Amino acid sequence: MFGINRRKKAAAEVTVLPQHLAIIMDGNGRWATNRALPRTAGHKAGSETFVKTVDACNRLGIKVLTVYAFSTENWGRAEDEVAGIMKIMHAYIVKYVPKLMEQNIRLRILGDMSYFDEESRKALTDSEKKLENNSGMTLCVALSYGGRNEIKQAVNALIAEGVKEVTVDMLSQHMYTAGLPDPDLVIRTGGEKRISNFLLWQSAYAEYYFSDTLWPDFDEDCLRAAIAEFGGRKRRFGKEK
Ligand code: IPE
Ligand code: IPE
Ligand code: MG
Repeated sequence: MFGINRRKKAAAEVTVLPQHLAIIMDGNGRWATNRALPRTAGHKAGSETFVKTVDACNRLGIKVLTVYAFSTENWGRAEDEVAGIMKIMHAYIVKYVPKLMEQNIRLRILGDMSYFDEESRKALTDSEKKLENNSGMTLCVALSYGGRNEIKQAVNALIAEGVKEVTVDMLSQHMYTAGLPDPDLVIRTGGEKRISNFLLWQSAYAEYYFSDTLWPDFDEDCLRAAIAEFGGRKRRFGKEK
């Protein structure tokens, strides 16, 4: 008879999948500091977790994955940290296009692109264009993203169109996420229990899951545990008891 390793925990069972999963990837800085490394090393490690997570979500059959990579408020961080993050981001978004193509993944960048120079904007839209005819998972990268800013630009776009009275649908259609379903599950890693300006409009009825695990350590078992817990939640949308 084979002995059983009782210390090895069985992976959580994923029963119900969120159609749209959103993740606030937090804790890179602390992960690096805990190892006496520069914060940028945490962002590098975080980008590796990001690649693995995209792959895991694609295998699981998630339709839309949105990751919070950089907020409008994050522009206020130290110049060298911002430069380090942008270097990693550029490498990921440009270098991984062929890999995303292989995986049949579409890419959408959500955020205020006016912070970027012409060349960076072009690199981002070129990556989106190359992948736009794919039919698999949609990967949204919230980059230079702020929820309040997003709502403000939607209202301004409607004003510019001459709209006199806005509707909820009109606003939804003018968000960066136009055409995508609202997130069903928002995971935040890194122990903080706040939303930090993420998908304010779209998360009206999202389920939240907070994990103390720092983003670079958030592996597929952690992801499955979050999705498994989501599967056990009763969503009511304000309707029934
Ligand atoms: C998240 O990790 C990544 C970005 C915000 C760009 P942090 O850099 O916020 O890491 P902590 O929260 O300081 O540990
Ligand atoms: C939220 O994390 C933004 C991203 C993960 C990209 P922050 O670290 O910027 O959030 P706060 O400052 O703790 O609220
Ligand atoms: Mg943080």
